[in-house]
Amino acid sequence: MIRSIPVGAGAYLPEKILTNHELAKMVDTSDEWIVERTGIRQRRIAAAGQKTSDLAIGAAERALKHAGVDASEVDLIILATATPDRTFPATAARVQAHLGIKKGAAFDIQAVCSGFIYALATADNFIKAGQATTALVIGAETFSRILDWEDRSTCVLFGDGAGALVLQAGEGEGTTADQGVLQSYLRCDGSHEDLLYVDGGPSSTGTVGHLRMLGREVFRHAVTNIADAIQTSVDRAGIKVSDVDWFVPHQANRRILDATARRLHLDPEKVVITVEKHGNTSAASVPLALVEALEDGRIKRGDLVLMEAMGGGFTWGSALLRW
Ligand code: ACO
Repeated sequence: MIRSIPVGAGAYLPEKILTNHELAKMVDTSDEWIVERTGIRQRRIAAAGQKTSDLAIGAAERALKHAGVDASEVDLIILATATPDRTFPATAARVQAHLGIKKGAAFDIQAVCSGFIYALATADNFIKAGQATTALVIGAETFSRILDWEDRSTCVLFGDGAGALVLQAGEGEGTTADQGVLQSYLRCDGSHEDLLYVDGGPSSTGTVGHLRMLGREVFRHAVTNIADAIQTSVDRAGIKVSDVDWFVPHQANRRILDATARRLHLDPEKVVITVEKHGNTSAASVPLALVEALEDGRIKRGDLVLMEAMGGGFTWGSALLRW
């Protein structure tokens, strides 16, 4: 059977670091409060004029270089973002133009923090259906642009960044020993919109709007949905949670990650955590964590990697792959 094989990954972070101490000069908060409640110590902030597409291009170029794949081979770009450069065209189209690609399809996916998992599952299905051979899957965000910088309950949580993964069609036996994407699982329950949303948009207010969230409620749903995402992928693949070499979760909050690990009895040593450095970068957080674990040598060829996320919508999902 056709498998979507991961052949390279890359990340791009804006230069500017905003620490908790600096934030405490902007709103009524403290490093102690933020670290205790979230594990976040700092986040990156895009420079004035630096757009989501700029971050996405940086990550895509590094992923292609890491893969040893020329941009001309790419026939599918799926970019997950909730902070596009413009309402239209898709930010993916800008990335495609910058990379000089003239063939194939390019489009954005909007599933907020679950966006990268949605994009990865979609690319995998395109490849398995024979509709693409080389896909760039990107998560890129400039959440700093949609934060209310006077709302301490949300502005301390998020950051900017981008990560990208290159997938290529290859052959597999159809077993979990195959290299490539083995399983993906996507969910949405649109009935909780009022718990996490942006209070603007082209067809409602005609403005961009700001992020609004009832944090405590979101926390409760996050632990339940993430546990569902992990358990379902593992069950569908016919393996055990303990068979997974690395968990690469969406990085929203250290306490959500710890609570999920406790609930599913995950080995904490196997969970890749970057939230302290990046904050919550929404669709970028899973590929940013993936790249960190690849670069520091934790994830090696042949390892079984489970990625998962939960976000606005609510959306949630997971993808199991053998690197
Ligand atoms: N600094 C200091 N005090 C603060 C801050 C802050 N930055 N933010 C809120 N507080 C205060 C509140 O005003 C409140 O004060 P009060 O008791 O006097 O009213 C107190 O701290 C407790 O507020 P809660 O919101 O109940 O605090 P909680 O312990 O729930 O922590 C947090 C808040 C960190 C947002 C938590 O609910 C959370 O992480 N939720 C998950 C949200 C999330 O990660 N969303 C991301 C998108 S979804 C996803 O990616 C999974």
